[in-house]
Amino acid sequence: MGESEYLNESVLELIGLRKRFGDHQALEGLDLKVPAGSCYALLGPNGAGKTTTLNILLGFIEADAGTARVDGVDVQANPAKARTRIAYIPEQVQLYPRLSGFENLEYFHGLGSSEAEPAARLRDCLNQAGLAEGDCDRRVAGYSKGMRQKVGIAIALARRAPVMLLDEPTSGLDPQAAWELNNSLRSLAKQGVTMLMATHDLFRAREVASRIGILVNGCLQQEIDPAEVAGPELEARYLQEVQQALGVQA
Ligand SMILES: Nc1ncnc2c1ncn2[C@@H]1O[C@H](COP(=O)(O)OP(=O)(O)OP(=O)(O)O)[C@@H](O)[C@H]1O
Ligand SMILES: [Mg+2]
Repeated sequence: MGESEYLNESVLELIGLRKRFGDHQALEGLDLKVPAGSCYALLGPNGAGKTTTLNILLGFIEADAGTARVDGVDVQANPAKARTRIAYIPEQVQLYPRLSGFENLEYFHGLGSSEAEPAARLRDCLNQAGLAEGDCDRRVAGYSKGMRQKVGIAIALARRAPVMLLDEPTSGLDPQAAWELNNSLRSLAKQGVTMLMATHDLFRAREVASRIGILVNGCLQQEIDPAEVAGPELEARYLQEVQQALGVQA
């Protein structure tokens, strides 16, 4: 990744994003910016519009109105170019069970790249993602969810994409695996990777993100600097926003 990739102060930029499914307004004019080399955590209840936001950035679905820019590239105008800037970690990383972690990485990396990558570099990506040396050549069929997640991170690392989108990356991970994932994300941020993560994990979001947004009914209700709130306060503010927006009595 060259310095030139980070000339845009906000590497991810959403302006007035709107999306309707049938009679349901999933996004109601979402504005959001993520500066280079930082991690933004999008919190919000089920159905708030988090995955919809990621899907628009990925070009999987089109917004009805508004602009989404990735590394300066307008997603709607130039989806293929925008896609080259993004690595995506879905909640369930899909791998071939009969191949090893290393072989999966080799295969998926080969799909998206015209140049063969030296095996040593791919192994280094698995290493950086935190997969134990002894596990890299075992069949994925015997992997835990956390181990599959690490192969997903390694695939993302090998792509050298300046942006990473993650959908509920810690869901179903044990505390140790979630902690390791957070360490990988922090090290990626240090390398200049810009991340947007949808999550329900307030605790981990506070640890890794430099900004937290609370999304309810497709609207960003509040942005929080995690350095300024303790865990219990973050939870209280989250619950207050959600209950207020959904009209639930506390
Ligand atoms: N392809 C689709 N067709 C119809 N409705 C959809 C579609 N995708 C999302 N929706 C609706 O849009 C709203 C937002 O969904 P979205 O998946 O973005 O929520 P989310 O914040 O990711 O929720 P969760 O925390 O459960 O993953 C929901 O009401 C959902 O039912
Ligand atoms: Mg979702």
